[in-house]
Amino acid sequence: MQVLKPSKENIKKAAKALQNGELVAFPTETVYGLGANALDSKAVMKIFKAKGRPADNPLIVHIASKKQLPQVVEEVPKKAIRLIKSFWPGPLTVVLKRCNSLAKEVSAGLSTIAVRMPSHPIAKALIKEAGLPIAAPSANKSGSPSPTRAEHVLKDFKESIVKYLIDGGSCRVGLESTVIDLTKEVPVLLRPGGITFEQLTKKFGKIVVSNISKRPASPGMKYRHYAPNSKLLLAERNEIPVILEACLKKGLKPALLCSSPTIKLCNGSAKLVFDLGRKEKEIARRLFAGLRELDSFSPDLIIAEKFNERGLLRAVMNRLKKAAN
Ligand code: TXA
Ligand code: MG
Repeated sequence: MQVLKPSKENIKKAAKALQNGELVAFPTETVYGLGANALDSKAVMKIFKAKGRPADNPLIVHIASKKQLPQVVEEVPKKAIRLIKSFWPGPLTVVLKRCNSLAKEVSAGLSTIAVRMPSHPIAKALIKEAGLPIAAPSANKSGSPSPTRAEHVLKDFKESIVKYLIDGGSCRVGLESTVIDLTKEVPVLLRPGGITFEQLTKKFGKIVVSNISKRPASPGMKYRHYAPNSKLLLAERNEIPVILEACLKKGLKPALLCSSPTIKLCNGSAKLVFDLGRKEKEIARRLFAGLRELDSFSPDLIIAEKFNERGLLRAVMNRLKKAAN
């Protein structure tokens, strides 16, 4: 894999590679994506192979303008138009009836397709230059935390069939897009993400939250995700100093993944610490980088803070619970 700086010339080079059926990793405002031409079965199959992704877990298709929608979906219902107007370009993915010209592997045999228009200037420029709908899951090996910096992608795919990685620095949102299914009578929130449940209901009214423990409405939700190699424990703020002390007494090597106020509570007794910051935007942005960084020290236990499931912290908790599974 070759790392490219995001120049005009390099975007052209990467777009050519996509047209030729190669894989290109690129930054979006949420996380880095691993892209392929969504019209080309062979190219799409390369994504599944490189990631080690189960073939029954469908991908998100990325477009650069609404004009590309007819290449991806059969029709755009009124309720979709309302959401698209409010939240595109940005971290919202809508599930609609798919169009036949797409490679069938993209949607893993489903009759629906997940589509979004990213707001990141490099993602937009690349998709526009390629002139294609681009299938792109997060650019991590299946099961590991999503990549929010180019070095994360490099770590997972250095020796791989991925042709290029465009280095666009850190991702602004740091969590994946919100996925909402609009093929049902009442829209179903399949994955909380960069657009909050509160933002959506304000625009939309009633939305059902899918209960993944009962039935995985989104195939990807049944797999273990975002998991560091180290054991991860979720704990309330006030329990954390106690758990930390108990670990240290036993001679264990614990690590803290917590907000700044919680870290203060621990009076400097932990050696391995990743400070997530204070504001929910910061916490969301830093979460995956924190998981990866702490994991690289192979602690006996990562103690992560439980947050109230409101706003962006709903998505943060969704990822933490999966990492703790
Ligand atoms: O922010 C993002 O969404 C990032 C960037 C790269 O755009 N992409 C991303 O893709 O997170 P991925 O593949 O890691 O997650 C896609 C999610 C999975 O949970 C998958 O099951 C769900 O979307 N999904 C895809 N197509 C679907 C469909 N037709 N019906 C229901 N869920 C679907
Ligand atoms: Mg992913």
